[in-house]
Amino acid sequence: MKKIIYLLMAACLLMALAACGDDGGEWTRTGYFQDENGNMLSVTLSDTEGYEGWFVGLMTGDDLSNSYGNVLQQEGNKLRGNIIPDYEEGEMTVTVSEEGEDGLLVEIEGGESYHFKPMDMPEATIFVTINTEGGGNIDYAEGETAPEIDTEYPYQSAQINLAEPTVHTLAAWPDEGWHFVKWTKDGADFSTDDIITVELSESADFVAVFEFDGAEGSAAEGIDYMALVNKLNPLPEGWEDALETVTITNSVGKDVEVEKKAFEAYELLRADLEENDGIYLELDSARRSVAAQQDIMDSFIEKYGADYAAKTVAQPGYSEHHTGLALDLYFKVKDENGEFKDVYYNEDMMKDKYTGIWDTIHSKLADYGFILRYLDGREHITGYGYEPWHIRYLDSVDTAKKIMAQDITFEEYLSGKRAPELTIDYGSSGLYSREQLSEAVVQIKCKFASFEGCELHSIRYAGDEANSEQNISWLNSLAEGRSYTQIAEFFTDFHTAPDIQSTMEPDTDYNDYQWWLAWTEDDGWEIVSMGY
Ligand code: DAL
Ligand code: ZN
Repeated sequence: MKKIIYLLMAACLLMALAACGDDGGEWTRTGYFQDENGNMLSVTLSDTEGYEGWFVGLMTGDDLSNSYGNVLQQEGNKLRGNIIPDYEEGEMTVTVSEEGEDGLLVEIEGGESYHFKPMDMPEATIFVTINTEGGGNIDYAEGETAPEIDTEYPYQSAQINLAEPTVHTLAAWPDEGWHFVKWTKDGADFSTDDIITVELSESADFVAVFEFDGAEGSAAEGIDYMALVNKLNPLPEGWEDALETVTITNSVGKDVEVEKKAFEAYELLRADLEENDGIYLELDSARRSVAAQQDIMDSFIEKYGADYAAKTVAQPGYSEHHTGLALDLYFKVKDENGEFKDVYYNEDMMKDKYTGIWDTIHSKLADYGFILRYLDGREHITGYGYEPWHIRYLDSVDTAKKIMAQDITFEEYLSGKRAPELTIDYGSSGLYSREQLSEAVVQIKCKFASFEGCELHSIRYAGDEANSEQNISWLNSLAEGRSYTQIAEFFTDFHTAPDIQSTMEPDTDYNDYQWWLAWTEDDGWEIVSMGY
């Protein structure tokens, strides 16, 4: 009901703003009126071009859902004319006349009559406008419940006038061919959720921003927020052409470049932690070029040695940081004097330090579409040790929540999606333990996780005889500078995606597709080759 009241008020306010007020004739009863059944009437003077005169709005029925309005002609001490419904056909001819000391009588030709009395209107001091940019609609309701969106009767813009701070839920939804991007408040980014609940405590302008989906096929030009980049999977080709970033300066003066949507989500995460937990988040690093990754690798090798570097820093070309979607966090904490102190050195952030703070941060990641990427104890899957600071944006709160709730790595999530009913046949081996073979299977599943849209059906160990002199020297010829002594072959059956972007045939069964892996004491399995 409130929604309508506000709309009525908005319409009247706009009209009143435009009113000249100098030639209203004898008519004096203006303002807002109500009858004993809760029906409402507004009478305001308008000089909007084409609408000069007395603007009369009538709202009746349950929830005031029958809403009519128009400019009526003054005939002596009456207003008379046709009022027009908001959304339907069917004008009505009405006569409005004075009744009693301050009331109004509304008579509908051939229909009902209403007896209105002036309404006590608290004076509004908070004026909030809600508008749209691009193809989409908004609706809103008072309180915590989202409005029931009726796509037939959307609001394109509205003004809410309030006498005191009130909680409202605003909803935005796109037209066909458009998508919702964000809400802005007073021109600044406010939220990427399409439905937001906000306390309106001061005048503000909210805008729901929608973006055109673009011409057919152009969606493929954007980045794939679910892309897997890890030790086995390099940055997809063409990524940089599609990537849009923003650059910010962190608390220690370092510029950090972040993918645009990931940054918007990060800002919301940061605000949440700051407001609710007193944790002041900062960005140490996000998007890194291949050259920047090489610099980090070189300095780690120099400082800590090649072994440590390989376990903590990705090879240039294979770092998730190239995507702009991976963010390394640090935070500011207050020292004993209540002054802020930056915490950003690796050794400061190791897992046994600030565990409470990291737990709080991690508990909120998925709410903003982020996951924790390098989980404790999952080095054999991710390839790296625990990094409480390294988070990854997925652009899907749903998916992030699924992953975080199951406490699984991104690799496990993707391989589960790509292999919902996988059969594994370890055969028998005198060469490898079951544990070793299952580690090889993990590697294959993780690599397969990047075969977008494909479905893995089975993995089979090919048998110890594949570990022949001939095959070993063939793999050594493929991997420059390596001298493997033990290898293994696996077969897989899978079905390719209908829209696969590779040399493989789309929508096709591939059977006995081979995977060649080499075993090294230090690094475990390495996929050296795959194919027929
Ligand atoms: N520290 C992570 C693994 C990277 O260098 O990308
Ligand atoms: Zn990182």
